[in-house]
Amino acid sequence: MKIGSKKYRTIWFENNRVKIIDQTKLPHQFIIKDLKTVNDAINAIKTMEVRGAPLIGGTAAYGMALAVKENNNHEFIKKSSEELIQSRPTAINLKWAVDRMMKKLSGVNNDEALKVALDEAKAICEEDVKFCENIGLNGLKIIEEIYNKKKDTINILTHCNAGWLATIDWGTATSPIYHAHKKGIPIHVWVDETRPRNQGANLTSFELNQEEVPNTIIADNTGGILMQRGKVDMCIVGTDRTLSTGDVCNKIGTYLKALAAYDNNVPFYVALPSSTIDWNIKNFKDIPIEERNSEELSHVEGLDKNNCLQKVLIYPKESKTMNLAFDVTPAKYVTKLITEKGICEASSDALQKMFK
Ligand code: MRU
Repeated sequence: MKIGSKKYRTIWFENNRVKIIDQTKLPHQFIIKDLKTVNDAINAIKTMEVRGAPLIGGTAAYGMALAVKENNNHEFIKKSSEELIQSRPTAINLKWAVDRMMKKLSGVNNDEALKVALDEAKAICEEDVKFCENIGLNGLKIIEEIYNKKKDTINILTHCNAGWLATIDWGTATSPIYHAHKKGIPIHVWVDETRPRNQGANLTSFELNQEEVPNTIIADNTGGILMQRGKVDMCIVGTDRTLSTGDVCNKIGTYLKALAAYDNNVPFYVALPSSTIDWNIKNFKDIPIEERNSEELSHVEGLDKNNCLQKVLIYPKESKTMNLAFDVTPAKYVTKLITEKGICEASSDALQKMFK
């Protein structure tokens, strides 16, 4: 997708280097960074220079290739794979991508390993682009159906950033939006997750602006009243881990949006590539929920009057803060899942039928 007039992906390999866009500095600064070592990849995931489940997976895949480049020794590769998997706990794509890389590398000759690793990392990223494009084409059908009845601007609420910045391209939740916008359907997006990290405000609004999709940033607590007032036609969110039961784990606050949508008969869709499905965990209480540094909550970052990035404390110095990064929306609140293979119920039968 576009930044300015130039098309970008979120991660790419160029001149023997892995390149990323540093998302901690968006929307105020656009910085491209090189990842030279597996430790650089681990650090980029931990500090959220790259984030979003599919992009975390793509970065971990390239991280494995960087490990092979640094030291193609079995012990080192194994240790690197474990450290990558531990770099963030909730998004399942991370483990999925590392396991796929390990499988691909097993039994490969030393002199071929780097090429095999780079090719596989590229394949994981290309596959994600295709999956996200298909999610968009499938989700477009839902938007078209609503538009054919309403014949007026479709108001879509999305939470956090499940946009192209969270994937390799297109996004999951935003892909149907971009496809509808390109087809000329009038769309307006309510953008939230304005706390703890401002991912909606900083990233989703930024990327929608670049694609000229009309959008409005709202405080996280505003979604409910907008739904009561009939100002939301549908919600579309992403997911970091979808259980085979259809329960979805996504950025903190998603659950409350789903409850408000349920109470107001607003359809609540979750868009996901199959790499986000966890076929093992059956009870959502067993999903590891990341607790991040409380500074993300007690401080905010923005531009000062001299246009310099500043971080300031906004709460009482002595107060404790708690910063859970994800919550789970039970399947009963999910209208449908939008996947690369089609649209299905958020249920174990429907997921099995679609993917197994
Ligand atoms: O903490 P983040 O920014 O990595 O969380 C991102 C989300 O919660 C996204 O909604 C999710 O990864 C889906 S990405 C297409």
